[in-house]
Amino acid sequence: MQTLHDIAPLRARIAAVRRAEGRIAFVPTMGSLHEGHLQLIDEARRRVAAESGGDSAPGLVVASIFVNPLQFGPSEDFDSYPRDLDRDAALLDARGCDLLFAPSVRTMYPVAQTFRVQTPPELGAVLEGAFRPGFFEGVCTVVLKLFNLVQPDVAIFGSKDYQQALIVRHMVQQLGLPLDIVAAPTVRAEDGLALSSRNAYLSADERARAPQLRQTLLALAQSLSDAAASAVMSPAALAAVPHIEAAQDVALQRLRDLGWSPDYVEVRSARDFCPPQALSAEAVSASPEAQADVRWVVLAAARLGKTRLIDNHEWQLLPPA
Ligand code: PAJ
Repeated sequence: MQTLHDIAPLRARIAAVRRAEGRIAFVPTMGSLHEGHLQLIDEARRRVAAESGGDSAPGLVVASIFVNPLQFGPSEDFDSYPRDLDRDAALLDARGCDLLFAPSVRTMYPVAQTFRVQTPPELGAVLEGAFRPGFFEGVCTVVLKLFNLVQPDVAIFGSKDYQQALIVRHMVQQLGLPLDIVAAPTVRAEDGLALSSRNAYLSADERARAPQLRQTLLALAQSLSDAAASAVMSPAALAAVPHIEAAQDVALQRLRDLGWSPDYVEVRSARDFCPPQALSAEAVSASPEAQADVRWVVLAAARLGKTRLIDNHEWQLLPPA
C-alpha cells in the first residue's frame, strides 16, 4: 500500500489509474480504525473487482484518514480524537487497501475553507444536525473535496452513521457527481454495540452497559411492529400512531432510567426520512401489500458518562405475509 500526504502525487496516481480505465473505490475515514471501517475496505475491494477490466485495468481501493476540523463543534473532541497513523496504515495494508491518502489540515485547508456545502435543513438540521450545528456542513464540505481529489466511481459509507450516508447520497444526486454511494451494514461487537472509534472513551463499566442503547432501539422497533400488526385490520388504529411518539418517549425514559443522557430517539421512514406524522399517513393510505413493505428506521444519540454514542436500527414494520 502506498501512503500519500500531498495532493500532487495523489492526483498523479489517480490520473494514471483513470488513463488505464481502472475503477476507483473510496472509503473516507477519520482513522482510529476498527473492524467496521475495515469491512468498508472489503466492500470497496468487491466493487473494484466486480467492475474493473481484469489485469489491464486493475482498479484502486483508496482510503483517506483525515480528522476534519470543520465537522467538530468548539466543545467537541477534535483535539482528543484518537490518532495513530502507523497502526491504521498497517491495518489498511493488511486488508488489501491500495492507497492511503492522509493529508494534514494545512494540505486540506491551505486557506480558510470559507466556501462550504450548505445542507437542506430538513436533512441537515434535524437529529444529529440539531445537536451538532454545522456538523453536516463540515462533513459534506470535506467529503465533496475528497471526492474531487480521489475521483472515485464508488464511495462506501457505513450505515452506522445513517443520516450521514443519506445526506451524502442526496448531495451526490443533487450536485450531479459521477459516483455511486454505497451504504454498508453496521459492524457490531458480539454484545451488539456498534463499533466506533469513540468506544475507546468508555470506562470498563460503561462499556459493559453500552449495548443498552441498541437494546432500547430493538425494543422500540418491536413495540411498533406489534402495534402495527394489531392494527392491520383497522387502519384507523394505525392512524392513531401516537404509538410512535409514545414509543419514542418510552425509549428516552428507559435510557434515562439506565443512567444515560439521550439527545434524541426518533423514528423515520427509511425510504425518505420523513417524520412520524407523515409516516402514519403513508402507512394508513398504503395497501396491505405496501404496508408490509414499509421500512422504518429509529435513530438515537445518547451520552453515557462523557461519551456520546449514536446508533440506529432499520426494520420492516410488518413481517411478510
Ligand atoms: P469515521 O467516523 O471515521 O467513519 C468512517 C466511515 O466508517 C463512515 O462511513 C462510518 O459510517 C463508517 N463506520 C464507522 N463505524 C462503523 C461500523 N461499526 N460499521 C460500519 N461502518 C462504520 O464518518 C466519518 O468518519 C467522517 O464523518 C467522514 C465521512 C470521514 C468525513 O470526515
